Amino acid sequence: MVAKLICIFVAVLVSCGESGGFKYPKVRRNESVIDDYFGTKVADPYRWLEDLNAVETKQFVKDQNAVTHAYIDTAPARSQIRETLTKLWTYPKEGLPKKRGNNYFLNKNSGIQNQWILYKGKTVESLYKDEAEIFLNPNDFSTDGTVALKKVSYSKNGELLVYALSTSGSDWTKIHIKNISTGKDFEEVLHFIKFPSISWTHDHLGFFYTRYPKPKEEDKLIKATNDSKIYYHRVGTSQDNDTLMVQFPDKPDWSLSMELSDEGEYMLVSIYKVINEETLFYTKLTDAIKAGLKKELVLIPLTTTPASYSFIANDANIFYFITNAGAPNYRFVGMDINLPGIAHWSTLIPEHEKDVLSWAVAIANDKLLVSYNRDVKSTLELRNLRNGTLILEYSLEAGSIQSTEGRREDRTFYFSLATFSNPGVSYRLIFGEDGSIPRNLEVYRRTAFKGLDTSKFETNQVFYTSKDGTSVPMFIVKRKDLVLDGTAPALMYGYGGFQSSMEPFFSVAFLSFVSMFDGILAFPNIRGGGEYGTKWWDDGRLFKKQNVFDDFSYAAEYLIKANYTSTPKLAIQGGSNGGLLVAACANQRPDLYGAVVAEVGQVPNNYTNFLKYVCHHKKLCLCSVMDMLRFQHFTVGSFWCGEYGCSEDKDHFHNLIKYSPLHNIKANTTYPAVLVQTADTDDRVVPSHSFKYTSQLQHVVGNFKAQTQPLMIRVEEKAGHGSGKPTWKQIEEYVDAYSFLQLVLNIKFVEL
Ligand SMILES: *[C@@H]1O[C@H](CO)[C@@H](O)[C@H](O)[C@H]1NC(C)=O
Ligand SMILES: *[C@@H]1O[C@H](CO)[C@@H](O)[C@H](O)[C@H]1NC(C)=O
Ligand SMILES: *[C@@H]1O[C@H](CO)[C@@H](O)[C@H](O)[C@H]1NC(C)=O
Ligand SMILES: *[C@@H]1O[C@H](CO)[C@@H](O)[C@H](O)[C@H]1NC(C)=O
Ligand SMILES: *[C@@H]1O[C@H](CO)[C@@H](O)[C@H](O)[C@H]1NC(C)=O
Ligand SMILES: *[C@@H]1O[C@H](CO)[C@@H](O)[C@H](O)[C@H]1NC(C)=O
Ligand SMILES: *[C@@H]1O[C@H](CO)[C@@H](O)[C@H](O)[C@H]1NC(C)=O
Ligand SMILES: *[C@@H]1O[C@H](CO)[C@@H](O)[C@H](O)[C@H]1NC(C)=O
Repeated sequence: MVAKLICIFVAVLVSCGESGGFKYPKVRRNESVIDDYFGTKVADPYRWLEDLNAVETKQFVKDQNAVTHAYIDTAPARSQIRETLTKLWTYPKEGLPKKRGNNYFLNKNSGIQNQWILYKGKTVESLYKDEAEIFLNPNDFSTDGTVALKKVSYSKNGELLVYALSTSGSDWTKIHIKNISTGKDFEEVLHFIKFPSISWTHDHLGFFYTRYPKPKEEDKLIKATNDSKIYYHRVGTSQDNDTLMVQFPDKPDWSLSMELSDEGEYMLVSIYKVINEETLFYTKLTDAIKAGLKKELVLIPLTTTPASYSFIANDANIFYFITNAGAPNYRFVGMDINLPGIAHWSTLIPEHEKDVLSWAVAIANDKLLVSYNRDVKSTLELRNLRNGTLILEYSLEAGSIQSTEGRREDRTFYFSLATFSNPGVSYRLIFGEDGSIPRNLEVYRRTAFKGLDTSKFETNQVFYTSKDGTSVPMFIVKRKDLVLDGTAPALMYGYGGFQSSMEPFFSVAFLSFVSMFDGILAFPNIRGGGEYGTKWWDDGRLFKKQNVFDDFSYAAEYLIKANYTSTPKLAIQGGSNGGLLVAACANQRPDLYGAVVAEVGQVPNNYTNFLKYVCHHKKLCLCSVMDMLRFQHFTVGSFWCGEYGCSEDKDHFHNLIKYSPLHNIKANTTYPAVLVQTADTDDRVVPSHSFKYTSQLQHVVGNFKAQTQPLMIRVEEKAGHGSGKPTWKQIEEYVDAYSFLQLVLNIKFVEL
């Protein structure tokens, strides 16, 4: 093994010195694996790499990593890059306070702790004191930081807490119940739970939760999970005695979620298989609760129009929702549950012609806070809940509202606003007992970020014209005094899918690029996202997916024409669906980019849809979708058929094969430098896409004379996945990506 490593290392040095080419590990091809899609024969010589447990696949990972590290470890500023990232990462982070019962709660992270800690106090002020009381510290649950707190749910009176823990980033969680005043856990632990919905009954005796049948040990990590059901658990009893409340036996592969109405008298159930195609049911709980919740509930359909629905509040039988049913930019509607069907809804806030209604929160009984996405920036308005009438609009700094805290029964509302160069400011609105309303925003807290003088940076929004004439917004972040002469290194990041809007977000990793390299960040809001509602998404999915790639390459052309950067200095980066984006763009315009990083990485912002449908509620998504003909065969891949279409359909097959990164690598073509990042195991996404793509890339162009830039893969071995991923591992991932970029774009490190 040692001898082999040295060989590879020497080989890299020697071949670098000679032709600029790299020597990649030999990867076996099986030319007899050929699929027939409607008469078109498609070879899949690396099919064997789909077997992640095979010894040969493990050896592939080792060999590739050896070549990759032999190269990226030589980056001149590698240790300074690590120091800078670590220094900037270490700043205190906090959530927003909430009141439950007689207590206040707050999540905080002192800087670089693996898991956030939940604090408790009798006053809101006490939460910010050094001696604040630690209520729940997931860092104590394991020595290596891999046990994560996934979800908490407080009983209505604030006496009891349900909390869900996961180990090693697995999607599987265990539910524990705590008496808040004593801090003691009840004896029972609930199992077989993933992405749970949890709702306490208002009598505080128990709660509803979603769970799955007990999985077979060997199926736990790979098999799709079917048969989601809702159970009722009574506190203080064993899970064996839980009652099955809701099931859909004829829809085994549908996902299920549930919530209760404001007074706890109705249950709302949403089922979906495909993004934006939810169906809603409801049932009245009053009698069932009186009878002790001993038998299955009978559900009534509330809407059979498949669309996206967010329940906001209800007054008895009038339920308020935000939906895109019949309104691509979303509207606020009232539904009388006694009169189901879209024809009977009343539109309380009609669809805006351009701005997208993002969310709304009922507050202070009869008020509604409403936020729009207006040219990719958040707005905030106060309206009347019952008729939607506008009361006033608050004036916000250009940024994105990342989180909110406040319920209909509360009089205080908190929210935090992030920008690309500011980790966040939180604001507070206090509604008076007498019905008076706050006319101005009150700054509540500012995040202390001392690593860098953020006032030196600026974010500008530009609009450029894409191939078909569509105007596309793009954020550009840079030092204020940077001279635009085309020599600056640029990192362009994109996603373009699943109706996920890329609103401004703060990322230490991205800001480090700007400060360490005197670089430029560009975030084009390409189609496929939700920036301009359902239409923006529709124009970038299925048969219109090519628009997404065109929008991205036209963004690069814009940056180059306007002298922000030039091809040899331009890196493109994206993860998951964004990994597909950058790999497809490299195939289509290899002449345009200097480097491509198809990354793993933390999901950088509030990609609600992304988390829900692609990563299945995980903050970390390890896949890049590279094989468009076979993604649906693995774990949650079948959920993506609404986004891409699936190769079982003839028309979709012909569309997918046109851009599938694995199938469109061009011989005798000079490619940009490519670094694919992935991890070797995961219980939701498969790295085989990345393995096969890299092997094919190295096979087709790795030996091409003019290919002087590396084509490599970095595989994180035995990764602590998901939110259990320790902070230091995340930092190492960026250290490697930026080391790679420093080498291939030939950029200078600038001291802070
Ligand atoms: C190559 O693939 C074919 C078809 O799947 C299979 O029968 C054969 O065993 C494979 N060969 C090797 C060496 O794996
Ligand atoms: C929680 O603990 C307190 C203090 O022992 C006790 O009075 C209360 O009844 C407990 N609550 C529940 C729901 O068990
Ligand atoms: C739980 O169920 C078992 C078996 O069905 C029964 O014997 C036991 O009494 C139940 N316990 C409670 C607390 O209901
Ligand atoms: C889940 O249900 C779908 C639809 O019935 C079925 O095709 C699939 O095989 C099931 N998966 C498992 C693991 O049982
Ligand atoms: C909406 O409701 C508020 C509060 O009841 C009332 O003052 C206002 O006139 C109503 N507006 C409309 C258009 O009905
Ligand atoms: C996204 O933002 C919404 C609205 O602020 C919030 O309710 C939700 O929890 C956020 N999701 C994530 C994953 O942060
Ligand atoms: C780009 O920068 C170069 C070098 O400073 C300059 O000659 C050129 O005019 C600039 N082009 C534009 C479009 O600003
Ligand atoms: C690439 O170029 C080589 C040498 O000129 C030639 O033999 C080969 O056929 C070309 N491959 C393709 C796919 O065009």
